[in-house]
Amino acid sequence: MLRPDLETLTVYSAHPVPPQSDKLDANESPLDLPPILKEKLAHYLTHELLSHRYPDGMYASLRQAIAQYAEVPTDWITIGNGSDELIRSLLVVAALTQGGILVAEPTFSMYGILAQTLGIPVHRIPRNPADWSWDLAAACRAIAQEQIAVVFFVSPNSPTGNAPTVAELDWLRQLPPEIMVVIDEAYFEYAQTTLVPDLNQHPNWVVLRTFSKGLRLAAYRVGYAIAQPHLITALEKVRLPYNLPTISAHGALLALQHREELLADVPLLLQQRDRLYQAWSALSSQFGFQIWPSHANFLYLRTAHDQGLQEFLQQQNVWIRRTGGGLRISIGTPEENQRLQKHFTQFWQTF
Ligand SMILES: Cc1ncc(COP(=O)(O)O)c(C=O)c1O
Repeated sequence: MLRPDLETLTVYSAHPVPPQSDKLDANESPLDLPPILKEKLAHYLTHELLSHRYPDGMYASLRQAIAQYAEVPTDWITIGNGSDELIRSLLVVAALTQGGILVAEPTFSMYGILAQTLGIPVHRIPRNPADWSWDLAAACRAIAQEQIAVVFFVSPNSPTGNAPTVAELDWLRQLPPEIMVVIDEAYFEYAQTTLVPDLNQHPNWVVLRTFSKGLRLAAYRVGYAIAQPHLITALEKVRLPYNLPTISAHGALLALQHREELLADVPLLLQQRDRLYQAWSALSSQFGFQIWPSHANFLYLRTAHDQGLQEFLQQQNVWIRRTGGGLRISIGTPEENQRLQKHFTQFWQTF
């Protein structure tokens, strides 16, 4: 009864992290919503939300607010239940029956996982470990030799944190219009740079963003895609009716209305990230690990003791992620970062 190729897939299980832990494993914002926003949501839930009615299926006010935030017309926006849902929709409209996808490893795992669930071939090329930029010669070979329908490009990349290089952007810009280029800007609020203005010249490009990171709404599962209207229409055709709960759509709308407050802590977080980066860089040659600068809310490092370091931190109630052949550590609150720094130093002193 079941497709035999599903045998090769495993269930995606984000491991549960005990409450009161320093949760630095999923690149969420370390800060919950401010009380004023929580009160507004509670008021909406109690006095305005009609629980027995479906949401506004077109999400008109949210799409309008996102369009204003992204500085594009409203018909350049569609929304998803997290950007994960939009990744799947993009695969359905551009890759299914058309060809495979191209990703540069290490990168966000969901492109490959979702492609596999749809039976879409995944072509993986390496990055240059000096700065984690794409191996563009390998990318050109893949385009020449394989049937590539969609290229996934993450800016900045997860887990490595690097921003696009001029050579990468030149390469993306010369790709033929029949290949879809997905620019995933999940960490836009931290990186503070965008390729949205490029969409005018590139009808085959889509920018993906999420409310799960800088806008502090991971629990609500809201993502959006920005592209020229013909692409948005295609995505709308495959979108499930009412794909976002009313409360999530309202939460996202409130987040945009209060974005100045929500984003006010971003500079502090970036400062904390750079401080950790500098402290760890200074230790790296002594203890033989590698660390790279980051343009997002996490740091990536590689050591011969990845598992040992992860387990040691976990014993101290600090949860980080082992992925892409290294360790990805989200930046927490100043208190969490202080504890992280203390335990990180302790670990190296055990050698
Ligand atoms: C690069 C990238 N894209 C997309 C996502 C998924 O975001 P969402 O929570 O909107 O599904 C993540 C989450 O970690 C991510 O790192």
